[in-house]
Amino acid sequence: MEAKPFTFRSANGTTPLTLSSNFILPKDRRPLLSEVLTSASIPIIDMSEQEQSSGDDGRAHGEPSPLVQKISQACEEFGFFQIINHGVPRDLCRKMMTAVAQFFQLPPEERAQLFSEDPTKPVKILNYNLKIEGQEKVSMWSESFSHPWDPVDDFAHLLPTNPPLYKEVVGEYAKEIGALVSRLLRLLSRGLGLEEDCLQKRVGERPRLRAQANMYPPCPDPEQTLGLAVHTDLNALTVLLQSEGVSGLQVIKDGKWVAVDPVPNAFVINLGDQIQVLSNGRYKSVHHRAVTNKKMERMSLAMFYGPNKDTIIGPIEDLVDEEHPPLYRSYHFAQYLDEFFKQMGTRRMVKEVFELRHQGLCGS
Ligand code: OGA
Ligand code: NI
Repeated sequence: MEAKPFTFRSANGTTPLTLSSNFILPKDRRPLLSEVLTSASIPIIDMSEQEQSSGDDGRAHGEPSPLVQKISQACEEFGFFQIINHGVPRDLCRKMMTAVAQFFQLPPEERAQLFSEDPTKPVKILNYNLKIEGQEKVSMWSESFSHPWDPVDDFAHLLPTNPPLYKEVVGEYAKEIGALVSRLLRLLSRGLGLEEDCLQKRVGERPRLRAQANMYPPCPDPEQTLGLAVHTDLNALTVLLQSEGVSGLQVIKDGKWVAVDPVPNAFVINLGDQIQVLSNGRYKSVHHRAVTNKKMERMSLAMFYGPNKDTIIGPIEDLVDEEHPPLYRSYHFAQYLDEFFKQMGTRRMVKEVFELRHQGLCGS
């Protein structure tokens, strides 16, 4: 396949002064940046708090700890939160971000070799786009590098050897993120009143683990385009590291866009569609997008954790009763993925395809 040029950079590496037409969104799809709320924010949760009720702190044994309660509330109300004091060494996160930056500084010809539009290719650079009825696809103002992240021995040989730092650091980083995801899934399980290993078991023993490094170059006109189109994540849980000091991620809260400004040494955690289905709608997979800015390059690294194709996903039985009828039918994750790829490039409504309608609940 012919490699695609990265058109948001001119030959001399600088950003052009005007957007070429393939990046310009129709008026009704533009980000309306002046309407983004700056007063609201998603919860910031300190993970150094005690997880387990010790019984000597006045709480009954087994009662959810304040940490579980805070996370649970964030999952119900926002589907997004940031965590601090999460235990992943700050130095490692810095090194990982430096490696991501070095990767995107590789010469365009070298990056172009990794470019692919084949969804089955395990390691690739992609440029997302949006299908718009009656017109050409609109390219997003970003470049994304996608690859598997665990177990390290199975994927390390697939990674490019350049920059060397990337390969060096990502294995160690993946191990830390794996442990963090397990801890988060335990906390989420408790929040739902389930056995603490429940969610991780449901997602399955051989999870689908994809990493996606995103790079958003400075953009001449942030009002007319997007870095990443509005979407929900297809997986179960995402751990996102974003470059310090540059804002761009936004989430929907009560119909309004809220900026997720970077907090030093924090991760952004968000729930994907599979947790919404498993929790029978209690925990939310929320629409989000990335916007661009005129001055600063922004990068992020998303670590996606989700089921593999053979895993059956559906509302967990303990969360279903007369008052809470199942909102979704069960499916193999492969079926979800088929639907996902069918809807690729549109404002996806994938989990909605698996919704069950109940008498009396219609329209709610
Ligand atoms: C994603 C995503 C947001 C960001 O990769 O799915 O939502 O801030 N990224 O880069
Ligand atoms: Ni996302």
